[in-house]
Amino acid sequence: MAAAGTLALGACSQAQESTPITPSAEAVTGEVLLGLTSEVPVGGGTKFKVDAMLTVLVTQTKADSFKAFSATCTHSGCIVNGVENNEIACACHGARFDPESGMVLKGPAKTALGKIPLEIRGEEIWITI
Ligand code: FES
Repeated sequence: MAAAGTLALGACSQAQESTPITPSAEAVTGEVLLGLTSEVPVGGGTKFKVDAMLTVLVTQTKADSFKAFSATCTHSGCIVNGVENNEIACACHGARFDPESGMVLKGPAKTALGKIPLEIRGEEIWITI
């Protein structure tokens, strides 16, 4: 059974000023507050763990241009490292993806990362899943 509604999360690897809700073991659906725009560096990306099945990578390729993708590599299911040298990098087998579109730049992955609808509300990053 899925937990529906609104949920606030924190970034996987960055300190939080607010207290994040511990990701649920059940699948989360609905609107999810991932974190703040200030947690995502320009030219980089930040991973947010939503639940046991979904980690989201938010990228900011240029100022105020945010995109959200499933961080699960389409090759074999590893969680991508993040943005390195303007590419989303998967360390498992070397795949690279475009941080703006999620398209494959280098195999062995053959399909793009899954895009996730994202909305910026003030300083907050929201997704709908
Ligand atoms: S799982 Fe990402 S390149 Fe193989």
